[in-house]
Amino acid sequence: TRRIRTRDLLAAKERGERWAMLTAYDQYTAAIFDRSGIPVLLVGDSAANNVFGYETTVPVTVDELLPLVRAVVRATRHTLVVGDLPFGSYEEGPTQALRTAVRFMKEGGCHAVKLEGGRNRAAQIAAITDAGIPVLAHIGFTPQREHTIGGYRVQGRGDAAEEVLADARAVAEAGAFAVVLEMVPGVVAKRVTNELPVPTIGIGAGPETDAQVLVWQDMAGLRTGKAPRFVKRYADLAAVLTDATRRFAAEVRDGEFPAAEHTF
Ligand code: KIV
Ligand code: NA
Repeated sequence: TRRIRTRDLLAAKERGERWAMLTAYDQYTAAIFDRSGIPVLLVGDSAANNVFGYETTVPVTVDELLPLVRAVVRATRHTLVVGDLPFGSYEEGPTQALRTAVRFMKEGGCHAVKLEGGRNRAAQIAAITDAGIPVLAHIGFTPQREHTIGGYRVQGRGDAAEEVLADARAVAEAGAFAVVLEMVPGVVAKRVTNELPVPTIGIGAGPETDAQVLVWQDMAGLRTGKAPRFVKRYADLAAVLTDATRRFAAEVRDGEFPAAEHTF
């Protein structure tokens, strides 16, 4: 079996087949997702929150993300790996955007890049795709703009639906192979999905998109505390790991570990 290609995702849309995408930032999880039939993995700039412990995605750099991209690519055989361009690495214009995308492809070894923005980033998307690099667009709520947007807020309610549609059309026209729709009303995501020739990937965008993406630590319950409404936890990894850690610590304290079979 070979790597998934962007044209496979387009064919899936034409067949009406839905698929799931996850973030990944390290080799063991990436290998599990690869073997579990996830066709696309995103090395998200959400590594800022989920790996590096920053409060927003704003501080994370290209140099911090590239080693994670390399790890995920090395650990996978089937998935298409998308590298997420961080804040500050593409906004200046098409030249800066292409330079950063080329670094992700050459140094990260990924198969596509993602960036946030709609009409305002169409020139960047066109320049990168023109160079032969597939681009995943990301519209609706865009976390890199959270200081402007004023927090995590649903985008495209009421009349603003037309803004989301205009962004979707613009990124598809510019050559994006797919579009992430984050935190938009389900009815808006449905309209975009029906209208666009390329796949839509929803997160907090209802059930009508062509695909769904979640941050893996949210999906698997490694992140604790209140999750956004759009998250579903399929496991409680935080509880599993807490229990294992406590038992390890207790057995060391009690002199139960290591036992004879662990000893040379
Ligand atoms: O960085 C990220 O995790 C993302 C996805 C949730 C779409 O951009
Ligand atoms: Na992101």
